[in-house]
Amino acid sequence: MRILLAFFLAAAPVFSAPNTAVESRIQKILNRMTLSEKLGQLQQLGGPIEGSSQLMDLARHGKIGATLNVRGAKNLNALQRAAVEGSRLKIPILFGFDVIHGYRTIFPIPLAMASSWDPSLIEKVSRLAAQEATLDGLRWTFSPMVDITRDPRWGRVAEGAGEDPFLGAAMARAYVRGYQGENLSAPDSLAACAKHWVGYGAAEGGRDYSTTEISERTLREIYFPPFKAALDAGALTLMSAFNDLDGVPSSANPFTLTKVLRGEWKFPGFVVSDSNAISELIQHGIAANGAEAAQRALTAGVDMEMHSRLYEENLPTLIKSGLVAQSTVDEAVRRILRVKIALGLFKQPYADETRTSHTPDAAARKMARWAAVRSMVLLKNDGKTLPFSKNLKRVAVIGPLANDTAAELGSWIGNGRLEETITLLAGVRAALPNAKVIFASGCAMSGDSDAGFAKAVRAAQSSDAVVLALGEAGDMTGEATSRAFLNLPGPQINLAKAVLAVGKPTAVVLLNGRPLTLSTLTQRAPAILEAWQPGTEAGNAIADILFGNASPGGKLPMTFPFTLGQVPLYYNHKNTGRPAKDDDHYTSKYIDAPVTPLFPFGWGLSYTSTRLSNLTLSPQKITPDQKTIVHVFVENTGNRLGDEVVELYIRRRAASVTRPVAELKGFQRVTLKPGEKRQLKFDLGPKELGFYGLDMKYAVEPGEYEITVGTSSVGGLTAPLSVSN
Ligand code: GLC
Repeated sequence: MRILLAFFLAAAPVFSAPNTAVESRIQKILNRMTLSEKLGQLQQLGGPIEGSSQLMDLARHGKIGATLNVRGAKNLNALQRAAVEGSRLKIPILFGFDVIHGYRTIFPIPLAMASSWDPSLIEKVSRLAAQEATLDGLRWTFSPMVDITRDPRWGRVAEGAGEDPFLGAAMARAYVRGYQGENLSAPDSLAACAKHWVGYGAAEGGRDYSTTEISERTLREIYFPPFKAALDAGALTLMSAFNDLDGVPSSANPFTLTKVLRGEWKFPGFVVSDSNAISELIQHGIAANGAEAAQRALTAGVDMEMHSRLYEENLPTLIKSGLVAQSTVDEAVRRILRVKIALGLFKQPYADETRTSHTPDAAARKMARWAAVRSMVLLKNDGKTLPFSKNLKRVAVIGPLANDTAAELGSWIGNGRLEETITLLAGVRAALPNAKVIFASGCAMSGDSDAGFAKAVRAAQSSDAVVLALGEAGDMTGEATSRAFLNLPGPQINLAKAVLAVGKPTAVVLLNGRPLTLSTLTQRAPAILEAWQPGTEAGNAIADILFGNASPGGKLPMTFPFTLGQVPLYYNHKNTGRPAKDDDHYTSKYIDAPVTPLFPFGWGLSYTSTRLSNLTLSPQKITPDQKTIVHVFVENTGNRLGDEVVELYIRRRAASVTRPVAELKGFQRVTLKPGEKRQLKFDLGPKELGFYGLDMKYAVEPGEYEITVGTSSVGGLTAPLSVSN
């Protein structure tokens, strides 16, 4: 017997419980709306507002459902007054903006936050971001970006939570809870928008906006779960993606936008297109003109159009000609009004102008610093190079990014300010006020000039320790920044070779927004700290770790390949019929490179050491609808306080369809005192053990599982679990 878990998939999201009073109120508004006013709600127009009388005029005529990139309580209130006091039906506008990793206080990029494996941290950080953004009059963010990504060439990996659906789902839930808070109608509640629905991260060649071909099973098991988690957490909106998905672009795909989203998941909120994604259906080649693009998008299930205005321009004719039903327009308007009512916009449409958004205060900076510390991943630490002593007298800080604020903030920096950002150099100087700290940039981020190497080498020679900051420039990651190479840009690797050859204790600090190919660096550098793009408090957080005020405990949310040719390379891959064997030529591998990564998913060191023991399952035999309780002990075997992330993976070696060699199904980050031993507990039941079988139905099939508990996706303790009827 297989337990079909339809209930699990159909569970309605938090805010969805249909409220008859709200629904009848919506219907009353709808009944009074003209077609022009209805189409006005389906349109999201961009800012800025300064000098734009057009936006005010459109608002006054009820022609704007939402805006993006208009900011400032005063500006937004002026626009809102035009709608609420000037238009016939006084429907409030929803003000949106990309609050991706902070608004004024900038936190680590989402890929870094995922490295913390700490959803509670993400919730706190998102709550603060929501408070700052709503202070500026905003009530909607185009976040979280929950695209699963297996290809580091794609620059937008920086914005997501990496390659795993379980970790991605945990992060998605946390962002939504943080942004929207306990009460959607509170003035500091920021509507979430899970994006980009769906499959955008699987862009062929890692090229942004490129084609995706994803099987239904992979969609359901890899790409959907973070979105489902966001909606189950109550996300009010979704953003449809740019990509062609198996021949039907995601912004005109009835399967994903209606069958799954509405039919299976009962999503009651609304879908906004990505910027101009509807007009791009013409480029995709599924629409000959704007009218066909509007018809395909709206009837597939995209409710609001961002930037392009094809709905307003074409729907009157499409409705008149019967190509689009009036009811389709009404349903889109209904969803948008439902969200606006849930946010309390009809009751309280205006922002409080007396409370303007402020520079990051001490509390915000403290949280940004802590978030950055929690997000950093110690990749290598030979000979306990780190932490450095706080009593160092002479330190060299070398590298083109050591004093570069843009590289520390990364992309989508909202209302953040470069001048409010602590550089790595400033952080080291603040941590060692009595030391002589020498700075040498060493090289540029492009070209091949070694003109700066000599000064950098001299700085290293005259110091007791070296901090070498390498990575990517701030504009090398984010949207439209796909890279065909994953190496350190410019002459950085040659600078690193020259500085490391000096032979002083050296710690490499990476400031980057994607996994890079670092095999040459890793051979030479004794210590490597992945700091990602740590945000406003970057320098202080890095110094906290370098000098031992904090211990690194992050883990990689994305695989670091040994070389570019292995990409896409991810931990939860299939076994194939010929898994790689060194002693068997005819197996799945390369003749000129390993098949294993440089650093695997889930990898990360700390300044202490830990041991796992006593893995037990109780019971070891279950029926498909039961669960087992997994217990394991984790012990701090070192002499320093430290963190460990204990990760639980499952594997099936035989089922009705092939299964990955490992699937993350649980994790816990713990802080342990020296010598402390703690027992951890994980539940494993249908939600974790099920998968889409041969009939594409989600079920737990009878069979044998291997349960592995480790501190990365490689190695660990394993125990069997048997499922039978
Ligand atoms: C961009 C991005 C999307 C963003 C939107 C609004 O093109 O794809 O993530 O939210 O436009 O800025």
